[in-house]
Amino acid sequence: MSDPKVNELMEKVVSLCKRRGFIFPSSEIYGGINGFWDYGPLGAELKRNVKELWWHSMTRHREDVVGLEATIIMHPQIWRASGHVDTFSDPMSDCLLTRKRFRSDQIEPQSGTAYHYTGAQDAVSGKCVDEPYAVLLPAGKPPESARKIANQFYQARGLGQVELQGERAEKVENSQRFNPDNGSLLTEPRPFNLMFKTYVGPVPDEDNVAYLRPETAQAIFVQFKNVLDSSRQKMPFGIAQIGKAFRNEVTPRNFTFRSREFEQMELEFFIKPDEVVEALCGTVAKPAGPGHPGEPRPDWGWQLWHQYWVEERIRFYGEIGLPRESLEEYWQKPEELAHYARATVDLLFKFPFGTQELEGIAARSDFDLSQHERFSGKSQAVFDEELRTAWAKLAEERRQALWQRYHDARHQYLTKAGVPAQQAEQDAREDADGLARGQYIPHVIEPSAGVDRLILGLLTHAYGEVTTTDAKGKTATEVVLRFHPKVAPIKVGVFPLLKNKPELVAKAREVFGLLRSEMAVFYDEAGSIGRRYARQDEAGTPFCVTIDFDTLGETPELKDTVTIRYRDDGRQERLPIAGLKAHLLPLVR
Ligand code: GLY
Repeated sequence: MSDPKVNELMEKVVSLCKRRGFIFPSSEIYGGINGFWDYGPLGAELKRNVKELWWHSMTRHREDVVGLEATIIMHPQIWRASGHVDTFSDPMSDCLLTRKRFRSDQIEPQSGTAYHYTGAQDAVSGKCVDEPYAVLLPAGKPPESARKIANQFYQARGLGQVELQGERAEKVENSQRFNPDNGSLLTEPRPFNLMFKTYVGPVPDEDNVAYLRPETAQAIFVQFKNVLDSSRQKMPFGIAQIGKAFRNEVTPRNFTFRSREFEQMELEFFIKPDEVVEALCGTVAKPAGPGHPGEPRPDWGWQLWHQYWVEERIRFYGEIGLPRESLEEYWQKPEELAHYARATVDLLFKFPFGTQELEGIAARSDFDLSQHERFSGKSQAVFDEELRTAWAKLAEERRQALWQRYHDARHQYLTKAGVPAQQAEQDAREDADGLARGQYIPHVIEPSAGVDRLILGLLTHAYGEVTTTDAKGKTATEVVLRFHPKVAPIKVGVFPLLKNKPELVAKAREVFGLLRSEMAVFYDEAGSIGRRYARQDEAGTPFCVTIDFDTLGETPELKDTVTIRYRDDGRQERLPIAGLKAHLLPLVR
């Protein structure tokens, strides 16, 4: 059972999101649509900030990463190559009575007595239904309850006055075959592909099937060559993309955490295979221990690059308000790894509903480019003149050893991919021979983050309540969202002390105008200053600026200064308007 306080927090966050316009259920006036969410005015700003911060940190602040914006619908063959057509499915069971759908592996195991029926007959018409059925009852419940449910099941199959047949009772322990809500038998688990299917063009036939992308990553792989040829990047380098992805989740849940339409921020960072690094540098550097390995070096193999990206991502989260202590690193066990991964670290965050994945950083080997090479028939190998030169200078023994290792890795991939033995051997040899010509297929490190779950993490992490007692002893509890200024949807609230003093209003509008070209600013003149602070606290605004009579020159030395109030400690200071922008900009960017 979850801690009630935890559920309470989730309820409060969901309610705040609706009330303040962070997140609304999609299509709400029509009853909503399960697994789809809309971002309101504050949510849209928050999300935009997060995406821009990621984009800036990944692309503009680095020389070795460039961006991409690809289509959502791509050639369907891509999803065969990626494995999504064959392997991207969850086991799913339907309730035989209500048709409610469950993810089979997530059904709460139940124990009790299962009442089985071989079929039923209509006592009036004599009509028979031979379909077997069963109902699970908790221990001690009379069989009559099972019979009632079974009657409904057979009535739904056309019987009027049901006579149940072949009743048999059986003790059941920890079964996931029954609906936890009503005890009805479920269908056998069957795989359910999570990709949304659609048709391109007017004819909805199998030749025109296409899919809404279930991840942004594949577009990066299939455009790898175009980007390499057009961007003047050299290995190692990365391609970053932010965009919508779609998964027809069987059971969307936990607010926006598992949605059917969501956004990803993915980087595919292409690196040299370890054999190439060794040929070029003489050795592949080994990780010296945990923590950030520092500035990239040419002798890094996949392990150090993987560690580097794990640490870079943790650093990013720290910079936007999720400190390292709020995250957990989870190294997936070999049996948990996706079919493409050599190693994966999940960065987990303590959501109110449990500690769950925020981002996965996977070492994907050369699986993806190799798959697209095989499926498209287009070479995905890169050419590296330095490798060609270095290879020629290697001692024969070293050359042989590296050739063999590269060959074996390629052979393993090809065999696993189902290439017939003779062909796999021939292809692996050709691939390894390519090293001498300076050719190889890059490996990939993939930090893949979900925007929506990050937004939810930021909201739950920022959520706080402040209880104050006034002079008359009356207490009030107010919500404060302690967003990092960089992600906060509104950076500054600008208030004239009084709304009925035109000089104060004019000055406040002037300050508002001065700041709004650089950051999101909210002008508010309604209610007491305390109420206005409270409204901004609830929206997560880190700074509020008040224009008062001193600003207008009532105290001459304070002319053209304003009061700035800091959300997190309530501190206030006086600053000249002329220095306001310069003071705020480094805090909010
Ligand atoms: N590209 C990895 C994922 O979508 O999970």
